[in-house]
Amino acid sequence: MEKECIELNKRFFTYHEKKRPYIILKWAESGDGFLDKDFKPTAVSNALVNQFVHQLRADEHAILVGTQTALTDNPSLTVRNVEGNNPVRVLIDFDLKVPSDFKIYNSEVRTLVLNAVKEGTEDNIQFIQIKKENFLSDLMDVLYKEQIQSIIIEGGRFTLQQFIDADLWDEAIVIKNENLKLENGTKAPEFNHTIYKTENYRDNTISFFKSK
Ligand SMILES: NC(=O)c1ccc[n+]([C@@H]2O[C@H](COP(=O)([O-])OP(=O)(O)OC[C@H]3O[C@@H](n4cnc5c(N)ncnc54)[C@H](OP(=O)(O)O)[C@@H]3O)[C@@H](O)[C@H]2O)c1
Repeated sequence: MEKECIELNKRFFTYHEKKRPYIILKWAESGDGFLDKDFKPTAVSNALVNQFVHQLRADEHAILVGTQTALTDNPSLTVRNVEGNNPVRVLIDFDLKVPSDFKIYNSEVRTLVLNAVKEGTEDNIQFIQIKKENFLSDLMDVLYKEQIQSIIIEGGRFTLQQFIDADLWDEAIVIKNENLKLENGTKAPEFNHTIYKTENYRDNTISFFKSK
């Protein structure tokens, strides 16, 4: 059962063989391909999918968001709709634009803030300095050093597209709410890969992709 064993240990193998975490890209898009409406926080998926998403968070070691997502959505990135552990939070914020009273800075979970300004630990918040050049490769080194074995890349588009363009991902999970039309806002990432599995969650569909 070699295939099953590899699947079961995919995080561990990826971490040790590739010296980086197992990377899962995840986003929810409307029927017309948007992540939000008019660049404002928008609920794209249904309640059943939200439960799936919280289970995904509980199953993985860390979760990462870009600056704009932290600013616009003010997410806490914790597990709430199911029982389980919170993932380590990773925020990319080069200029430390996200205010410290935003939810991502609350005391609930260990949080890594990758930035160009400062280094050091303040309670559960660890500031790690990183440069914009070679960002992805340096990010992988940081996550490896911090012993993060798997990570969900939660968005937004800019952040997800960097991973897609660099072909730096292992799985992608794309939620589609076909009946929802948002017409204007942040476009879903450009991603042309073959689906290996789909699951229906009432009126939402989740498509699963694997790299290679
Ligand atoms: N439907 C969904 O699944 C979903 C998920 C997440 C987010 N969203 C939505 O997506 C929108 C945000 O998406 P977005 O594409 O605008 O933003 P984003 O990916 O969250 O953040 C992009 C910003 O992060 C910084 N950044 C990240 N990596 C960088 C790098 N390697 N080099 C330089 N800067 C880097 C830059 O900010 P600076 O230039 O300021 O440094 C960049 O503009 C929000 O409206 C949010 O609601 C939807």
